[in-house]
Amino acid sequence: MPGQVELRRDGNIAVIVVDNPPVNALSHDLRTGLIDAFTRARDDATVEAIVLAAAGRTFIAGADITEFDKPPTVPTSMDVIALIDGIGKPVVAAVHGTPLGGGLEVALGCHFRVAAPGTKLGLPEIKLGLIPGAGGTQRLPRLVGMEKAAQMILTGNPIPAKDALAAGLVDEIVEGDIVAGGIAFARKVLAEKRPLRRVRDRDDKLAALRADPKAFEEIVAAHLKRGRGLHAPAAAIKALRWALDVPFDEALRRERETFLELRGGDQAKSQRHIFFAEREAAKVPGLGPDVKAREIRRAAVIGAGTMGGGIAMCFANAGIPVALIETSEDALKRGLGIIEKNYRATAARGGLTEAQVGERLALFNGVTGLDQVAGADMIVEAVFEDMDIKRQVFEALDRFAPAHAVLATNTSYLDVDAIAQTTKRPAAVVGMHFFSPANVMRLLEVVRGAQTAPETLATALAVGRKIGKVPVVVGVCHGFVGNRMLRARSVEAERLLLEGALPQDVDSALTDFGFPMGPFAMSDLAGLDISWRMRKAQGARAEIADQLCEAGRFGQKTQKGFYLYEQGSRTPRPDPEVEALIVATSKRLGIARRPFERQEIVERLVFPMINEGARILEEGIALRAGDIDVIWIHGYGFPVWRGGPMFHADTLGLPYVRDRLAAFARQTGDPRHEPAALLTRLASEGRGFGSLPKG
Ligand code: 3HC
Ligand code: NAI
Repeated sequence: MPGQVELRRDGNIAVIVVDNPPVNALSHDLRTGLIDAFTRARDDATVEAIVLAAAGRTFIAGADITEFDKPPTVPTSMDVIALIDGIGKPVVAAVHGTPLGGGLEVALGCHFRVAAPGTKLGLPEIKLGLIPGAGGTQRLPRLVGMEKAAQMILTGNPIPAKDALAAGLVDEIVEGDIVAGGIAFARKVLAEKRPLRRVRDRDDKLAALRADPKAFEEIVAAHLKRGRGLHAPAAAIKALRWALDVPFDEALRRERETFLELRGGDQAKSQRHIFFAEREAAKVPGLGPDVKAREIRRAAVIGAGTMGGGIAMCFANAGIPVALIETSEDALKRGLGIIEKNYRATAARGGLTEAQVGERLALFNGVTGLDQVAGADMIVEAVFEDMDIKRQVFEALDRFAPAHAVLATNTSYLDVDAIAQTTKRPAAVVGMHFFSPANVMRLLEVVRGAQTAPETLATALAVGRKIGKVPVVVGVCHGFVGNRMLRARSVEAERLLLEGALPQDVDSALTDFGFPMGPFAMSDLAGLDISWRMRKAQGARAEIADQLCEAGRFGQKTQKGFYLYEQGSRTPRPDPEVEALIVATSKRLGIARRPFERQEIVERLVFPMINEGARILEEGIALRAGDIDVIWIHGYGFPVWRGGPMFHADTLGLPYVRDRLAAFARQTGDPRHEPAALLTRLASEGRGFGSLPKG
């Protein structure tokens, strides 16, 4: 294809270079171009070896995901790979960047592979609800062995070049220009008259396993439990098994069939939606290329409690020195102690070396006194959720922080605009709302205040990405996007208890739906006292939760909450005392109890969230429905294979969601259940949230 695949000569070597920016996705045109170029190189008798490489930032990063909603077209990736595989002269893949998915499968179809030092190689299809569909499940185990292949395919995580070399996935790591490296390697192959090694013909790493069928079960067992609710992991395990039991060509045919089946299913559609929504979330109207993020060389975090400690770890993990500021040496010692314990636990699991733990810890500077923010380019406040305390902190920041510094608050509910007003530089103030545990959860709500400057916002977004988060811009309101929708769910969960359900009914309905935890087990984990304190401050009441707190049942930390916990156990056990309390409360309030089907429980919890999401869109608090989905998936464990609450609503059809909400409004008399105007309008127009403009 002119422009996308270049075929040139370097003596007796044909050099094929693909060029399809930004990531050389294996689009229809690229596949056609590759067929043409490889056919010509094959048929040219003066060509003795072929090198395949890519221009730009990466070797082929996979199939073109934008084509997945359309019917497959020929030539397929399988056609390209079959052609390469069958060529009777050496074909060398010279890879750099991120050879992923179909890109790695093309490289696996070549006879040799060399990689640039920083290359990351992987088969991430599982993250899109798929299995590799162009031979990956069959060639990778033959080349690297079943254990490594299962790990790569079932986690979807790429491996660095040096691991790929050790595993036999690449033959050599080449320094300098990757195309020149590929050509030099091809010449070596010719000079040494190395035999062609087709991956499909290899059996040395699988033979032993074939003789011991149980060993396969052991290899995949560890991965099985990760895939709760997902179709792709079980399908991938089945396909890996074919590498042992089924002739290669038949296994390829079955792999392809499975891939296409998954590709057309709702789970993969949902996961594709999230892939693109995450990237869309990074695009913020009004933040053009002219708005430059400031470089953050040093950070400061104020408060070394639950959140501050985790946030400080995020900076240190990205190599950014961080001052951790507390009110007393004792509090500091406690906070730093927890951080160190966390790193040691990671090291004990093999996630970090002792030397790396030392390097990370060396990046922390634990201090007392807010004047210590003086050297920081970004300051994140994570002190108690109390406006007076936050005001005092921000007034001090105004005095001590460098003029260029970004002043961020991690508040969960307080008004970011009011916090900004406590300084003389409201343009420098932004919300950076992390999720607990902050060093683990990937979501970062970036709260744009009325006066937040574009540079401040751009800096918060860039830092968020640098520390490995998925930042999503939200507007100012009580609870922003995530907690505001969570509140809609919590209110409903309590109400279900009063109407006839028990905590275990509600929780299991939601875990069956795909959440890792139900709302009551979650509350027990977080501690019931936190929200109790907040309700008391607002003069609000939650009938059941308040009574539990009044009885000293604060959740796991007191071994009693909505559930019972045995000493040292985190497993919730239903408690007859709680059941009696719930039943008595229903009676006292004159609410007739009735049985609930699981589906009704799920709808009663999830639909009010969707309704709140619709209001959030109406008010412009979120820029797009996809942003809300990303927030719920990365911050609250909404099942990714349902694509987030708003996408889930579109999948169900908005008229159904609207009608159910209207029925809930009649049943409960709660006006919050009246379908939001936006939901009603879209439903009557036969549209979904996904049809709204993207910002
Ligand atoms: N198809 C189509 N578009 C893609 C794409 C793909 N495979 N991969 C990335 N893009 C697009 C992104 O949507 C984005 O577009 P935008 O600028 O319009 O938003 C652009 O390329 C740049 O992507 P990123 O912002 O993600 O760039 P990064 O440099 O941060 O990351 C990457 C690059 C690591 C390649 C990352 O994009 C990625 O992980 N891509 C997906 C890789 C993948 O999943 N491949 C397997 C696909 S399935 C498959 O191959 C099936 C096969 O087995 C048959
Ligand atoms: P925490 O109580 O665990 O920690 C707060 C820390 O701030 C304490 O160690 C305290 O000594 C310190 N502190 C108080 N005043 C200070 C001051 N003037 N200077 C320096 N340090 C001071 O509280 P947590 O849970 O970490 O919450 C902090 C903030 O993060 C709150 O605004 C909260 O709403 C928010 N948040 C909490 C989440 C959670 O799950 N806990 C999730 C997201 C946000």
